[in-house]
Amino acid sequence: MEISTKKITIAIDGHSSCGKSTVAKDVAKELGYTYIDSGAMYRTVTLFCIQNHLIQGDTVDEHKLRALMDSIHIHFTFNANTEHYITWLNHQVVEEKIRTIEVSDQVSLVSKIGFVREKMVKLQQELGKDGGIVMDGRDIGTVVFPDAELKIFMTASSEVRAQRRYAELLSGGHKVTLLEVKENIEKRDFIDANREIAPLRQADDAVVLDNSYLTKEEQLQKIIDLVNERTK
Ligand code: DC
Repeated sequence: MEISTKKITIAIDGHSSCGKSTVAKDVAKELGYTYIDSGAMYRTVTLFCIQNHLIQGDTVDEHKLRALMDSIHIHFTFNANTEHYITWLNHQVVEEKIRTIEVSDQVSLVSKIGFVREKMVKLQQELGKDGGIVMDGRDIGTVVFPDAELKIFMTASSEVRAQRRYAELLSGGHKVTLLEVKENIEKRDFIDANREIAPLRQADDAVVLDNSYLTKEEQLQKIIDLVNERTK
């Protein structure tokens, strides 16, 4: 693949489980860029809330969480041998723990809290300040990097997305049903798109990529073509 040497910022937003992180990792690898999974940050704060019993039913104890925000330190490492990105909460690897259905079920409650978003956005902007970054999430092109040179808005039908996530969870040994996964995805789509702060929406200058019927390779090629256009 022919690739330009100018390093840009690539924002990939879109619905839950439409393969944003897979394609974002592939793009980062192809370009020699850094990949940042912003959803992992919200998942990590959610895990912290669960571990500290800050969620009762559908309510997060925002008062306690606010007081504890400074004790939440999130960072990422990359294992070049396995090509895996690893998420850390303080001194603990939480990569597996943040992918459970329990965290997926609660994450929308935590990611709609203003002070949580503020801290995560700051961290994301800091990580991406030098460019050469691919970041995926819900508000990357609209809030985190409104000046990103390339913005992609990814989507796929909820059936296709549920199938993919279900297969992923099963292969990771998680016990769930396809229906549970589909309901979780649709619920998160609704909350993400309807929350007050930084709702999921397509940036005006984003390129829409519906990958329901695209292979991994086709998606990657489409994005690399767009990068080449932007860096010419
Ligand atoms: O990308 P993901 O499914 O791992 O993200 C987990 C949740 O975090 C998702 O339900 C919405 C939220 N999120 C967000 O609000 N803003 C982001 N930039 C990324 C994720």
